[in-house]
Amino acid sequence: MDATDQTIVITGASRGLGAGLAETLHAQGARLALCSRSAPVLEDGERVLAAEFDVRDASAVARFAKDAVSRFGRIDLWINNAGVLAPIAPLRDLDLEEARTHVEINLLGLLACCQVFVRHVRGREGGGALINISSGAARKPYSGWSVYCAAKAAVDRLTECIDLEERDHGLRAFSVAPGVIDTDMQALIRSTDEADFPDLPRFVAMKRDGRYNTPAFIAERLLDLAFGESGRPGDVLVSLPNEWEAR
Ligand SMILES: NC(=O)c1ccc[n+]([C@@H]2O[C@H](COP(=O)([O-])OP(=O)(O)OC[C@H]3O[C@@H](n4cnc5c(N)ncnc54)[C@H](OP(=O)(O)O)[C@@H]3O)[C@@H](O)[C@H]2O)c1
Repeated sequence: MDATDQTIVITGASRGLGAGLAETLHAQGARLALCSRSAPVLEDGERVLAAEFDVRDASAVARFAKDAVSRFGRIDLWINNAGVLAPIAPLRDLDLEEARTHVEINLLGLLACCQVFVRHVRGREGGGALINISSGAARKPYSGWSVYCAAKAAVDRLTECIDLEERDHGLRAFSVAPGVIDTDMQALIRSTDEADFPDLPRFVAMKRDGRYNTPAFIAERLLDLAFGESGRPGDVLVSLPNEWEAR
């Protein structure tokens, strides 16, 4: 699918899925506004706005959206991808400060981004698409990932609420479990002690067998949800198929 003439925001674009989405969508002609704490994968340029900030900083999020609109005129699709997995441990051993930081990034930072985009769409002509990157862990419990599972489940429900509030005003909202992707987050999982994360062997086997979804595969499906035929009104929670099973 062609992304020419679409302006797309991607948070968490310095590495992993966000960086891969940025490279794929840039090659397909999109105008991009990218952010992360360290430098995004693509440099500032004619079709790229690159910003460095923490999504926990709501005023930085608002400035970034304003800059994107000044540069490109409007935002058509906003992808909330920035996220962390740590802390990984049973609840009885969790450091509460680490849990608080996690929720501030994965839930409250994302929520601030959603608010800025919802307000943008309300303030201009035409519709828009919001995609929140969720996880299979939102919909299935994993021992050792209580904070991650809880925050991603909250992202699912938050997105359903946004859909109810905004769908009559042209905003289509999706919470997408992207499948497993070979990123730093997966490396962190494989470096975990099995005592803290009993599912470890399954993730080690995925690496051995190359059972991953690539960012290019995910990008195609996100574009189709946002601008194509596959996104149906009210179908907010989406799970992408496994790429290797489709080969
Ligand atoms: N990998 C998987 O198998 C998998 C599976 C299901 C869902 N997901 C979800 O997919 C998304 C991307 O994961 P990934 O595997 O690509 O992770 P990753 O390789 O660790 O990359 C995470 C990205 O988020 C950014 N980020 C983290 N905290 C941030 C903050 N406070 N403010 C701004 N940016 C921040 C990071 O950049 P900086 O560090 O430079 O800020 C980085 O660009 C996450 O939401 C994750 O939960 C991943």
